[in-house]
Amino acid sequence: MLVLGIETSCDETAAAVVRDGKEILSNAIYSQEDVHAPFGGVYPELACRKHVDLLIPIVERALRSACLSLSAIDLIAVAKGPGLIGALLIGVQAAKALALALDRPFVGVNHVEAHLYAAMMPVSSSLPLPALGLVVSGGHTFLVKIHALGEYEAIGHTVDDAAGEAFDKVAALLGLPYPGGPAIEALAREGSPHAHAFPLPKVKGHPWHFSFSGLKTSVLYAAKGQNASKSTPCCLSRQQKADIAASFQETALRAIALKTKEAAQAFGCQALFCGGGVCRNQRLRALLAEHCGALPLFFPEAKLTLDNAAMIAGLGYHQYLRAQKGDALELEPLTRIPIA
Ligand code: KG4
Ligand code: ZN
Repeated sequence: MLVLGIETSCDETAAAVVRDGKEILSNAIYSQEDVHAPFGGVYPELACRKHVDLLIPIVERALRSACLSLSAIDLIAVAKGPGLIGALLIGVQAAKALALALDRPFVGVNHVEAHLYAAMMPVSSSLPLPALGLVVSGGHTFLVKIHALGEYEAIGHTVDDAAGEAFDKVAALLGLPYPGGPAIEALAREGSPHAHAFPLPKVKGHPWHFSFSGLKTSVLYAAKGQNASKSTPCCLSRQQKADIAASFQETALRAIALKTKEAAQAFGCQALFCGGGVCRNQRLRALLAEHCGALPLFFPEAKLTLDNAAMIAGLGYHQYLRAQKGDALELEPLTRIPIA
């Protein structure tokens, strides 16, 4: 079954063709990073305008690199949320229009579940179950128990910022460019993770929940002085910034790795599947490997860690097989959709 995936939930305009949920025939992505960088974060109105301009050329590019015409497509899968509502609407309307014009079914896919699926893709026919799912992206941070593909039990989630959001905000404090995650990881290599003893974030009474706002405040005070505000100028040397970046990264990622290890043990999980932009971070991968011992760890391949449409097409295939039908044309995108 050939599935055309469409992804427009945030600032990537993406289309992909995937065969039978697994074999990626093409994966076209236009990252709008340069458009949003001057604003230090995603500017929703600009993201929508870019999606309108780029979506059809990106779908054409995905088909061309798969050497296919639209008529060969059996199913259309689209990210239906969570995400920016205007941005989602563009992808969902395009998918509905294609489904109607081609007389093919379409399915709306949960973008965050698709981040997890990106790690499951190579082993989707024989998943080690039950497994633990860890999503660490710019908008979401949570742990779920995976009973089966599409069947999740909530374990813990962030009570304030998502992990990627914390990286982006700390980067902004240090005057680093957006997106902050890669900039922090690169600068952290020049610094000492022991330079600042930031307290390990914990949520009282909720061992599996995450919190990053207290850590963010500790970083603010370390960078700009006690009781400083975001607008206080940052007058640090590169080495001082590197030490803060390294200490922040180590503390945030160690908290994630520790909770993941403890949840895997407490919930009897056979493997860990990790998804979302922050799992590109090599220090996170090293800490998870260090803490999780013999637990098999699965990460998406590099091109599937950030927002992409191959993960949407792949998961859409399984969703369609399970339901044996597509979604109704009345389907509306949603800014928030829990996966469990
Ligand atoms: O999953 P994603 O592409 O978008 C969402 O669905 O949110 O993740 C983007 C997030 C951004 O916050 C970015 O700073 C973070 O992932 N990120 C990283 C790294 N690469 C991207 N965070 C830490 N280390 C990285 N190397
Ligand atoms: Zn995402």
